[in-house]
Amino acid sequence: MEESFGHEAKVLLDRTEAVHIIACGTSYHAGLVAKYWLEEIGLQCSVEVASEYRYRRVVVPKNTLFITVSQSGETADTLAALRGAKDAGYLGSLCVCNVPESSLVRESDVALMTRAGPEIGVASTKAFTTQLVAFRLLTLAFARRRGMTQEREKELVDELHALPRQVEVVLKLSDAIREMANGFAKKENALFLGRGTFYPIALEGALKLKEISYIHAEAYPAGELKHGPLALVDAEMPVVCALPDDALLEKVLSNLQEVRARGGELFLFSDRTVSIGLDHYQNLTLDDIFPTTAPIVYSIPLQLLSYHVAVLKGTDVDQPRNLAKSVTVE
Ligand code: G6P
Repeated sequence: MEESFGHEAKVLLDRTEAVHIIACGTSYHAGLVAKYWLEEIGLQCSVEVASEYRYRRVVVPKNTLFITVSQSGETADTLAALRGAKDAGYLGSLCVCNVPESSLVRESDVALMTRAGPEIGVASTKAFTTQLVAFRLLTLAFARRRGMTQEREKELVDELHALPRQVEVVLKLSDAIREMANGFAKKENALFLGRGTFYPIALEGALKLKEISYIHAEAYPAGELKHGPLALVDAEMPVVCALPDDALLEKVLSNLQEVRARGGELFLFSDRTVSIGLDHYQNLTLDDIFPTTAPIVYSIPLQLLSYHVAVLKGTDVDQPRNLAKSVTVE
């Protein structure tokens, strides 16, 4: 990626000491995942929805890069935030965008194109996964500047190259996910849980479900379960959770135990190496997953789950009621 960046972009990245990421909808969730990745390499990062950011006073630390994320590059609030940021003391602006001729690309100092191809369905899917890939690349570019060894860089790049293979495997789960969706179609509510980068993935999973199947879905950081949402859990509450084999696994499993103790129905996606050890659940396993790219891979079964639920319910998957692909007015 570095090679495709011009001189201006390289200078911006060289000087960046913090980033502010601004976006709406699904693009905002991509920004939330990026925060975990960027802070992991020591870069301070805040993420905010554009409609909030644009109407409040913002303190801009020295050498902060302003990053917008948008599939369309025409979202009114995101564009307004960029315009408002021009005189706010930022180092410069970078957009992660899917439409080369968009206003956002034209008005940003630097553009990182996601190249997902035209996205037709209102609910963003491939734009989201490519935004995450763009943020992995950006994280690598910053990590290089923070002394990442060439060996480590090669490993991380190889993990990105494994994505097409991993996604193929997930797509083959589609029939099994359709079976899982049967347990959902008659529900009125659903709860998505996750920790770490999997909290924003849970947010995105819940957003997809409400957008296209009209089931009320909420996402919570699993550690917040006891601070409210547990009160909602009974046998009528499906709880969806991705279980990558990471450092937070045991914590999430103990949260899921709490759900089971209240009769909540578990719909899980896990790494094959994970031993779940709960009394009752539905689970589909994924193989060959790397921690750095796991959120990208796991977002796809969640998208498929919403897709199959929507098809079962007979809603219009591509054009959900009341929603627009691009929100160009406030
Ligand atoms: C609308 C779309 C969403 C999208 C959001 C932000 O709500 O329906 O799918 O995530 O706008 O759009 P953007 O083009 O800025 O990513």
